[in-house]
Parts: sequence; structure tokens; C-alpha cells
Amino acid sequence: MEALKGVKILDFTHVQSGPTCTQLLAWFGADVIKVERPGVGDATRKQLVDVPGADSLYFTMLNHNKRSLTLNTKNETGKEVLTRLVKECDVLVENFAPGAMERMGFGWEQIQAINPRMIMASVKGFGPGPFEDCKVYENIAQCAGGAASTTGFNDGVPLVTGAQIGDSGTGLHLALGIVTALYHRTHSGKGQRVLASMQDGVLNLCRVKLRDQQRLAAGPLTEYSQHGEGTPFGDTTPRAGNDSGGGQPGRILKCKGWEQDPNAYTYFITQAAAWPKICDAIGKPEWKEDPDYATPNARLTRLNEVFGAIEDWTMTKSKYEVMDICNPLDIPVGPILSMKEIAAEQSLRDTGTIVEVDHPERGAYLTVGCPVKLSASPADVQRSPLLGEHNDEILRDVLGYDGEDLEAVWNSGAVGDRPAQAAE
Ligand code: COA
Repeated sequence: MEALKGVKILDFTHVQSGPTCTQLLAWFGADVIKVERPGVGDATRKQLVDVPGADSLYFTMLNHNKRSLTLNTKNETGKEVLTRLVKECDVLVENFAPGAMERMGFGWEQIQAINPRMIMASVKGFGPGPFEDCKVYENIAQCAGGAASTTGFNDGVPLVTGAQIGDSGTGLHLALGIVTALYHRTHSGKGQRVLASMQDGVLNLCRVKLRDQQRLAAGPLTEYSQHGEGTPFGDTTPRAGNDSGGGQPGRILKCKGWEQDPNAYTYFITQAAAWPKICDAIGKPEWKEDPDYATPNARLTRLNEVFGAIEDWTMTKSKYEVMDICNPLDIPVGPILSMKEIAAEQSLRDTGTIVEVDHPERGAYLTVGCPVKLSASPADVQRSPLLGEHNDEILRDVLGYDGEDLEAVWNSGAVGDRPAQAAE
């Protein structure tokens, strides 16, 4: 059974951060009603369009298992409908620019007054403070949350990462806040305000880099490659290239075919416990006993030489052969997988992590399914809704509009144009 069955989510989210949150809640079984501007909808519906006239992959891949209601919340009837929705739903989720809900007349105080049990959850770029009024997108969050200053190579510019830690990462944080507030409500009987700022979310994921900032006071960060290379440390956590963050040095190394294939690489970790097996595998058995190489501390100043020798070996193997040889020896390695390889990976299809979905406007497409698996409540990925697809159904079944009342809502223009079949 769906774990969040019976929970109604009033979903005012758009773009990526908020929609990832409500999509997760929908996969866990909540009834997510996505409210969009009539005739316009979430801006991502028409961004990065690949099939003319159809909702984009940007939108479809972030809005599965939701229902769509178009509602002009600045129209008087629209406000009445919204007030009924607030009474009816358990959680309101939004990620508008700061102040938008208040300008709409539905800030936290008004929401509480209408429904004291309601949980109001928001993604904002920044928490309270000097930047609280700023609009924020993914890469700004990666920069302001500390990720960019610690990503990239030491002699290069700061880098952002392809993992959407600002948007999807903050959506995850918000989802956790919402289910926690729902649990709290089971004994308090009251809703509460849940705020996840993108800067906070990114910083939470960069926790180990703030750790290193403080360790700098005690001397150089010896596990960073720059230590062995003799590059002095400054007064801030540096960019660490592909060094592994912990005490087990690791790097990305070339594999057979790297000259043609941009992803013919493996991540290789020289875990201390696996060192003798690594030496045997790469044909350096003498390093097992040599005091210059035998201990992790001795190796720290010669990481370039050590990884150079390992790479001489990995370059003779494909990234999958490296995996096949090293895994049975308990040497931690991982291939650099391209999106093309991931899309074709059968085991990810088998677990529902990669799902093929059919869509009436665009046909079949691939998406990422629910990344968290619940044994008693498996997620069933359903296509995203068309704009306003569930207007009539939500007005009738969720809000109980009928007869003249329903006609009045339609005639007010608050939900946009009435589709032909609904007017019959
Ligand atoms: N009916 C009527 N008006 C509606 C509406 C509806 N159903 N839905 C939205 N609107 C209005 C809002 O009330 C707001 O109007 P206002 O500014 O006059 O008060 C307006 O549409 C647009 O909201 P806004 O959030 O400012 O959109 P934007 O496209 O200018 O900004 C972001 C986009 C993402 C930069 C901004 O929303 C933001 O900073 N959000 C918080 C951080 C975040 O989540 N960023 C990551 C996004 S992936």
C-alpha cells in the first residue's frame, strides 16, 4: 500500500527544486495537486522543447504521478477555490521567489488561520539574512553553498557539478522536512512551517569541506594530492580535483580506449586494507614490503607515482575489465558511466530506477524512477499531467463543487478555458 495514502499535497512548485520534492511525495503515495497558471503552467513545460507542441522532458521528468489544476490565484473566484484547497489539503509546497505567496494573500499567517493543521513548506534560495530576497537557480546555490569553491582542479576556475545538488538536493531536504512535520502533526495536531534554503542544502552536502577548512589550522591536508606535489595550502579549503575526500586516496584513471571514448575511465581507490592485492594486481609486488610504499602515510607523498603505476595497468584494460578483476579482490573501483550507458543498463530497469513512460503528446521516454525503495510501498511511475488535465475532477471530487457552483467557477475564468468534454 502507498505509504502516504490519504495525504493531500497542494503543490505550488515550479522549475526543479520544488517539483522534485512533490514528485517524491507522489511516489510515496500522496495525492499531489499541482496548481498552475491557466494557459501558461509551469514554465518548464515549454523549456528545452525537443518534441514541438509536447510538454518538454524537463517538465515530464519532474512531475510524474501528479494531477494538474489550472487556477488563477489572483482572480477573486480563484482565491475562493484556493481557500477551499487550503482547508482540504494537508501540505502546501511552494518555491516561488520570496514574498510571492504573501503577495497572493496566502502567506503563513493566512494559511494557519484557514487551516491550523496545514504544513507550509518552501524552498528559497537563502534563509533569513542579507540575501533572503534573492531569486536563486541551481548554479547560484552551488556557488553560494560552498560547492563550487571546492570543485575543480587546484590550478583552474571553480566548477559547478552536473548533479543538481541545489535543486534536487534541496527538494530532498524539503521532502524530509515535510514527512517529519506530518509525523509531528500526528501528536501535536498542528501544522508548522518548513523551510529548506538551497544554500543550506548545498552546504549540508559539503559538510566535509567545512571539516577540512577547520583542519587547515592544524597543518596541511595530507590526503590532498597537492600535499605530495609540494603545492602549499592557502587559508581556505582548496579544490581537490578527483581526490577522494576521505582518508583512502583515490583518483580517476584512464582505461583502454580513453583516446577515443571520453568516458573510458575508472575511479580507483587505494584502500589501505587492499594494498597488498593492488600491488600484486598491477605487477608491483615489491611495494608491499618497501617502507616507502607499504604504509598509507608513506604513500601520501608519492600519490602521483602510485597512481601513475596503477594507471599504466588500468590503461591495458577496459573500465569493465578493471571492475571484473578488482571486485573479487575487494579493491574498490567504479567505472565512469555515461548517460548513454546508464540508459541502457538492464539492472537499473529491473529495479525501477530507470523507467520507460508513455506520454500522449510525446510517446515513450525514459525517466529516473523513485531512488528510494520501500518494501511494502513500491513506487509506480505514472506520466506527468497535461496542463489542467484534472480541473473538473479536482473541483468535483476534492472540493465538492457541483451544479451551479461548478458552473460559476468555470464561468469566472479562474480555472481557464473549459475543455469541450467537461462542458457537456
Ligand atoms: N496564478 C496567478 N499567479 C501566479 C500563479 C497562479 N497560479 N502561479 C504563480 N503566479 C505568480 C506568482 O504569484 C508570482 O507573481 P508576483 O511576483 O507578481 O507576486 C509570479 O507568478 C512568478 O513567481 P516567481 O517565483 O517570481 O517566478 P520567476 O520565474 O520570476 O522566478 C525562480 C523563478 C526559480 C528564480 C524563483 O521562483 C525563485 O527564486 N524561487 C525560489 C528558489 C528556487 O526554488 N529556485 C530553484 C528553482 S529550480
